[in-house]
Amino acid sequence: MGLFSKKDRAAEQLPPPQHIAIIMDGNGRWAKKRGLPRTAGHAAGAESFRRIANYCRTLGVRYLTVYAFSTENWKRSQEEVGGIMTLLQRYLEEALRDMEKNKVHFVFFGDLTKLSPELQELCRDAEERSRQYHEVQVNFCLNYGGRDEIVHGVRRFAREVARGERTPEELDENLFSQYLYSAGVPDPELIIRPSGEQRISNFLLWQSAYSEYVFMDVLWPDFGPRDLDEAISQFHRRNRRFGGAK
Ligand code: IPE
Ligand code: IPE
Ligand code: MG
Repeated sequence: MGLFSKKDRAAEQLPPPQHIAIIMDGNGRWAKKRGLPRTAGHAAGAESFRRIANYCRTLGVRYLTVYAFSTENWKRSQEEVGGIMTLLQRYLEEALRDMEKNKVHFVFFGDLTKLSPELQELCRDAEERSRQYHEVQVNFCLNYGGRDEIVHGVRRFAREVARGERTPEELDENLFSQYLYSAGVPDPELIIRPSGEQRISNFLLWQSAYSEYVFMDVLWPDFGPRDLDEAISQFHRRNRRFGGAK
């Protein structure tokens, strides 16, 4: 990574973004490089998530949104999907056990109805039991797709119109954002994608309208606190104009 310049160091002292989102990608390639099954890559990816979530808390990041399983990831083998679901289950059981110590508010973005009843219950439990914590919020994207989220939101709004509770004229950008999984959460200022891929893959399509993207070559299981520092310092060097001129 090389030495930090004076400018980087100054950037690091700036407050971190209040909302960081991460596409946790590259687990499969990490495993392949080592001659391991893809599920071993996902297990290493889960470790990486634990490390980065802790580091975000140290930095004072208020919201961390992570892409864990997309609406398209069901295309993978039964073995791989099952392995990912088992890891998620294990993680949530652990999170529920350590809830009082970690004090993290868990929220799930995605259509959970497609998950196993056990996993759905763990998600519900984690969300309900952690509602009392306000310092750090982790948004877990599970069976999440940006398009699916918008379609769900539109459907809910349409139902309310059909029941006479809303009128189409009421709908504006602010109101619509309340129909998304991310209702009440400010848009992410920074979205990080490790693994070398430079695409959105159906992540936070609505919320990322003005997010800064940082693409990095490191694979997710190898992604550490220094990589997060680097992404944040790139973010601080961006000139965010939001369509204005400055
Ligand atoms: C991300 O890693 C985890 C999930 C999509 C569930 P990948 O499994 O996509 O890893 P690569 O992209 O194949 O290396
Ligand atoms: C995006 O990664 C989804 C997650 C990291 C959960 P993918 O590996 O599924 O995306 P593509 O297939 O490379 O676009
Ligand atoms: Mg991938």
